[in-house]
Amino acid sequence: MVLIKTKKEIPSSEITPEAVYLSRRKFIGQSSAVVAAGALAQSSLALPESWIEDQGYEPGEDIDEDITPEKHATNYNNFFEFGTDKKDPAKHAHQMTVDPWSVEIKGLVEKPGELPLEDLLKDIDLEERIYRLRCVEAWSMVIPWIGFPVKTVLDKVKPQSGAKYVKFTTLLRESEMPGTKSRFSSIEYPYVEGLRLDEANHPLAIFAIGMYGKVLPNQNGAPFRLVVPWKYGFKSIKSIVQIELTRRQPRTTWNLSAPHEYGFYANVNPEVDHPRWSQATERRLPQGLFARSIETKMFNGYDEVASLYEGLNLKRNF
Ligand code: MTE
Repeated sequence: MVLIKTKKEIPSSEITPEAVYLSRRKFIGQSSAVVAAGALAQSSLALPESWIEDQGYEPGEDIDEDITPEKHATNYNNFFEFGTDKKDPAKHAHQMTVDPWSVEIKGLVEKPGELPLEDLLKDIDLEERIYRLRCVEAWSMVIPWIGFPVKTVLDKVKPQSGAKYVKFTTLLRESEMPGTKSRFSSIEYPYVEGLRLDEANHPLAIFAIGMYGKVLPNQNGAPFRLVVPWKYGFKSIKSIVQIELTRRQPRTTWNLSAPHEYGFYANVNPEVDHPRWSQATERRLPQGLFARSIETKMFNGYDEVASLYEGLNLKRNF
């Protein structure tokens, strides 16, 4: 089974963690395919380096695409809390304290409260998901995440019958997040996002706590982020500290900043252009000497979500 395919033009030196990564996968695949995360509570760290390896995870389904080399996925980021340059998150996100970490569950739920990450992850089976990530800026990557369905958390906290949406909020800690202090920021903080409850319950929607076989680096949203592969990347909110079940559609960061450019749904859609650029194609990163432009697919190629939007005008609800 070929788990990682690399483009010929990428020198193998750029993909160094791969050998390690493959052997780890093999090891994990052979031993305990899925191990519950129960032992986690004994640790004093929120998510120690070796945590994922210790827990084990179910290897992801192979997809017929080249996985983006780890070095690119962890050095070309959008995490405006640390600055707007793509290199800023890798430069500054180490300042963010991710241990201890807890997530507040509030709103229309049977079990509200402040959940330490260890408790949130208790008895959760980890899986790898190799997903395309399509940014609204028309670039894309293929990333092997490690996490679990959003639904497993929602089932634990039990949404009440009136709950129709899920709102997510990122940590806001100005002393550790230089981007949040800029007077010229185009967005407001904390970063907030939302999904319809049925979208959040879709099996493809996951919370990630790792990537490339390891715990998430801070710049990718440690220790706990959302990944919704059929939507533009800005929906995949990082470093989540609050989950709220609501009756009304929550306001979301980019929609608040530029409502005519970024909608609530933000489903990847090659037929609905951004007012300032086409969404029909995307640049698959990393880009070598020759630009690799590929056609963007409806729902980023995840057709299984189409039934969520039956009867909805996707041009109007962009
Ligand atoms: N979450 C927070 N809190 N702040 C951000 O600026 N950027 C979003 C999303 N989540 C962002 C965020 C955007 S625009 C994208 S494309 C993805 O994160 C990028 O995720 P990655 O850096 O892990 O590739």
